[in-house]
Amino acid sequence: MSGHGGIQNRFELEGIELPSAWASETMRTIAAHESRRSFTAEPLGEQALTAILTAARSAPTSSNLQAYSIVVVRDVERKNRLAELVGDQRCVREAPVMLVFCADIFRLRAVCERQGQPFAADTLEMFLLASVDAALCMQNALTAAESVGLAGVPIGSVRNEPDTVAAELALPRGVFAVVGLALGSPRDSGRGVKPRLPVEATVHRERYSAERLDEALEAYDRATIARGIYRGRHVPAGGDPELDADDEDRYGWCEHTARRCSNPEHLGAASLRRHLREQVRRRGFSLD
Ligand SMILES: Cc1cc2nc3c(=O)[nH]c(=O)nc-3n(C[C@H](O)[C@H](O)[C@H](O)COP(=O)(O)O)c2cc1C
Repeated sequence: MSGHGGIQNRFELEGIELPSAWASETMRTIAAHESRRSFTAEPLGEQALTAILTAARSAPTSSNLQAYSIVVVRDVERKNRLAELVGDQRCVREAPVMLVFCADIFRLRAVCERQGQPFAADTLEMFLLASVDAALCMQNALTAAESVGLAGVPIGSVRNEPDTVAAELALPRGVFAVVGLALGSPRDSGRGVKPRLPVEATVHRERYSAERLDEALEAYDRATIARGIYRGRHVPAGGDPELDADDEDRYGWCEHTARRCSNPEHLGAASLRRHLREQVRRRGFSLD
């Protein structure tokens, strides 16, 4: 595991010294997370997959409802079709395995039918609950893979074309693909852990406070500019010739994020998700 300038994990990146009792392998694995998008041709063995899936299924789950399903895609042609559906992402093509984490109320409905009771849990809350369950499984799978030197990247773009993805994976009504995970052996040593927003921006003690937000944003801009996180990946400013000039010294997380959030066309495939509500309803979630 190498990293940017030899930095291997977020504790090191942020200059946080852990007492030895806290410097566990788990802590180091989690803090060394980096999304990786290029993989070797090495297949992911069935044992490794079983370990990863067991870790995924060990995630906490709301009310023990286990309102999720995981679809394992190894078939090269199906994976290639999925790669297309998620915006032609090469990492999905390259990864030996793509896991698709789904919100699943199909099974809960089936359980009610089996027990001769009406299913009355088709609500917005249930969609959220099931999506959280699915996301927690994805995170556990990723951490498990990273703990043994494998790597991966979450793929939110499985929500680009929910109907087609559902048809490809034979998802029944009541099952919605929330997020994918492309997994494999990393092809290179990565770019090093990406700096996060300063803790003052995202962690609040007792009560929410935006008091130190400006200062935190400035610091994060400096960090992302210094690391060149957005070098060569600028989002067009939408007509402002001065900003469009894209001064590398001014283009940090704030400018990138503002440009993306002010124009959903630039928020990944957000523009393709304009019909998400209807699509989610078609997948069998009422959202009421
Ligand atoms: C729910 C979710 C969906 C994501 N979808 C994609 C995706 O479709 N394609 C991609 O390349 N990265 C995707 N990512 C990875 C993020 O871009 C990445 O986590 C973020 O830039 C932070 O970088 P890091 O994970 O290396 O720290 C996704 C991450 C999450 C949590």
